[in-house]
Amino acid sequence: MENQRQWEEEFLSKVYEKLFWATDEVSSLKPYTTKDGIYNAPPAGKYHWFCGFWGGIQWWLYKFSKDEKFLKKAKAISEDMDYGLTDFVQLDHDVGFQYLLTTVADYEITGSDRAMVSGIHAATLLAGRFNLAGRYIRAWNETKYLNPTESKTGYAIIDCMMNLPLLFWASEETGDPRFRQIAEAHADTALREFIREDGSSHHIVVFNPEDGSVVDFPAGQGYASGSSWTRGQGWAIYGFAMAYFYTKKKEYFETALKVAKNFLKRMPETGIPPVDFDQPEEPAEMDSSAGVIALCGMIDLKKWASEEDQQWLEEGICLLFKGAYANCDFTKDSQAVLQNGKELYHGGCQKVLIYGDFYLMEALMKRRGCDYLFHKQ
Ligand code: GLY
Repeated sequence: MENQRQWEEEFLSKVYEKLFWATDEVSSLKPYTTKDGIYNAPPAGKYHWFCGFWGGIQWWLYKFSKDEKFLKKAKAISEDMDYGLTDFVQLDHDVGFQYLLTTVADYEITGSDRAMVSGIHAATLLAGRFNLAGRYIRAWNETKYLNPTESKTGYAIIDCMMNLPLLFWASEETGDPRFRQIAEAHADTALREFIREDGSSHHIVVFNPEDGSVVDFPAGQGYASGSSWTRGQGWAIYGFAMAYFYTKKKEYFETALKVAKNFLKRMPETGIPPVDFDQPEEPAEMDSSAGVIALCGMIDLKKWASEEDQQWLEEGICLLFKGAYANCDFTKDSQAVLQNGKELYHGGCQKVLIYGDFYLMEALMKRRGCDYLFHKQ
């Protein structure tokens, strides 16, 4: 255990050193993936779901080192996020990912009034996506992943569990319970409709938006309908863990634990997750990002678990750290640390995904006792 903690501290130092260098190299405020080792910027103007992760990394680096260069960059990104709010029809449920890690973190770390107002604005947009009949938060707008002409009014996805802390935060901040009530209603629906008996999760559930009945379970980013997309399992573990943190509702903790148990049962000894636990053996596609997301959730769960559960969780945490380390590039050949992510099973290739580095940094900081960027400690 002592050796493991020491190894993790050395791991963190190496990640820090690499990101210290990368911070001066990366010009985009919203990098996503690398080409020949260099981060390219997503098309200007649009605020993609992942555009908050570089800002989140900067906040973690600042919390770790107190070096003003990270504060300056994180502030610039937080201010840039305000432009996204002016064009809100392009935003979807991922305002949680986008604004928690930039604007809300800014408010919690520096006390900025502007950032607080922007955070509440983003939370209001998220609350406005709630469907009363199905008691779910609508995920996407009309154009994502599937048939772009097909209406997405009934779509909810497991990833949304990660957006709920924006609502929990907004209720705490304003004293208005509506945000929390919507978050809990969505979490209850997700628990009932997404989580399967064996502890795995669907990626997408499609509801009839008029009467709330369930009509379909498309494959989404996973291998097939009914399969277990690993990053989605990670979102479920971490998302339900955070829902428990804010509400202390036991069923959220138990759900996160059940998904974590199933995740670890299906993990290969390498500690590197496949893209989908139900994918064919060949090609051996992997998704390093799924591992570090699940890792963050398990670190949370271990804090609240019984002694017996703590034991297997700790073994899982060590395995996932080992798998993450095996995918790290600490050289200057790439501006990113974690390699070998994959966006979805059908399409794309092994590549850098900015959120891999964010959750790796978050996991290492959590092992030092931090919880979330967007929560005062
Ligand atoms: N939330 C989108 C993804 O995990 O790819």
